[in-house]
Amino acid sequence: MSAARVVVVLAAGMGTRMKSALPKVLHPMLGRSLLGHVLNASRAVRADHTVVVVGKAGGDRVTEHVTGIAPQASIALQPVMRGTGDAARVALNSLPDVEGTVVVLGADTPLLRPETVEQLAAEHEASGRAATVLTARVADPAGFGRIVRDRSGDVVGIVEHRDADPEQLRIDEINSGIYAFTIGPLRSALSRLTTDNDQGEEYLTDTLELLMADGHGIGAFVAADAAETLGCNDRAQFAGLRSLLRDRINTELMRAGVTMDDPASTWVDVTAVIEPDVTLRPGVQVEGATRIASGAVIGPDSTLVDTVVGENATVTRAHCVEAEVGPSASVGPYAYLRPAAVLLEGAKVGTFVEVKKSTVGEGAKVPHLTYAGDATIGAGANIGAGTIFANYDGVAKHPTDIGEAVFVGSNSVLVAPVAIGDGAYVAAGSAVAEDVPPGALGVARGRQHNSDGWVERRRAGTKSADAAKRAGSSD
Ligand code: UD1
Ligand code: CA
Repeated sequence: MSAARVVVVLAAGMGTRMKSALPKVLHPMLGRSLLGHVLNASRAVRADHTVVVVGKAGGDRVTEHVTGIAPQASIALQPVMRGTGDAARVALNSLPDVEGTVVVLGADTPLLRPETVEQLAAEHEASGRAATVLTARVADPAGFGRIVRDRSGDVVGIVEHRDADPEQLRIDEINSGIYAFTIGPLRSALSRLTTDNDQGEEYLTDTLELLMADGHGIGAFVAADAAETLGCNDRAQFAGLRSLLRDRINTELMRAGVTMDDPASTWVDVTAVIEPDVTLRPGVQVEGATRIASGAVIGPDSTLVDTVVGENATVTRAHCVEAEVGPSASVGPYAYLRPAAVLLEGAKVGTFVEVKKSTVGEGAKVPHLTYAGDATIGAGANIGAGTIFANYDGVAKHPTDIGEAVFVGSNSVLVAPVAIGDGAYVAAGSAVAEDVPPGALGVARGRQHNSDGWVERRRAGTKSADAAKRAGSSD
């Protein structure tokens, strides 16, 4: 049998202290779930098998999530939460009879780096040991299992916080809950675990002493950056880790040439791609599959979700979802781009403008107070303030087609389906329900009638009537 590499992620717990209907490991943090971060880090070991252990509570949702983000992984159901040792056994029993290395991880350490998981596995394999535990020295070890070493510094076991004596409680080297084991010896040790501890659970950590008693070597790999081993149990700790991850992402981006006016208020998902010479002003969120090209300036106070921004574009105080902002286009201040809003090169979507499923042509302008939905706006067109594209008749959505260099006067309603031909004008205040041919002026509003002297006759004694009189209105 050739030596395989296996990854086992223990994720059967709900994470009760999160006080959430959503299993803890599915909570999203800057572009991935907690579980997604761990699965991503563990990809570095190029495992032949990856197994995620799920429990009864929330297990269906975790399974569905894993199927979506890591289809190569398999799921093992742990019917009763009997402890981490039982969970590891459930995982190994779900596999064919492999030999080699298994890396076991919890699912709540989002700062874990791929390099660290690979180094743990490689060092374990080079050492010939049966177990290598990833440890860290931390300022506050409370709650964690402690690494017990003998006088010569060799690891002799792990004691859980609640089972530790006062002297052991002073140990500041903690068990990260991440290990590399040699599969054969681990299987054997797992079959002999007891529940002789404060929680009455089968502890994976107890396999270390069993392995030693079997004559195998055990050891530790101390993480250079303790933050990588930090897990989170409640939402306060979650927020703390999220900030640390933000700092790590932002530092990498700034070193790669991205300007950030205020890194502390700049939140970029791990999945986003930002080119050098982009400027992110304060209060910006860059989420999902967003891509921002060189020279673009985003913010202040803008959110981009799955949005593509071209070179030298500007997005100011805007919320953009599944939109495309072309090169040198400008958005905002105060704009909402909804899915399939596409701005071609140099287009402008200005203040208090909402655009959905519409293309704004090259150099076209929608500067103020407009709703555009299901529209095609030609190159160089100008859509006046307060124009509403009435795309919905209460049952179905209809398209509006605006030609090149069209000028739509302010406060017009374009009742779809309707087309305005190239170079046509629409008079301000029109309700356009019929097509306007190319080059025509469409006027669709009531004619104005002035009733001379009306104010002095019907509003006598008012300030208006006095002013009218001074202006000689009844002459
Ligand atoms: C565990 C370690 C502890 C370490 C800490 C690091 C043991 C006995 N202790 O403690 O030394 O410092 O992690 O965070 O392993 N799980 C299952 N099935 C179970 C029990 C747990 O899948 O029956 C999963 C949990 O969902 C979680 C992980 O295993 O993802 C760790 O379990 P948890 O109960 O949180 O262990 P800790 O008490 O934190
Ligand atoms: Ca834990």
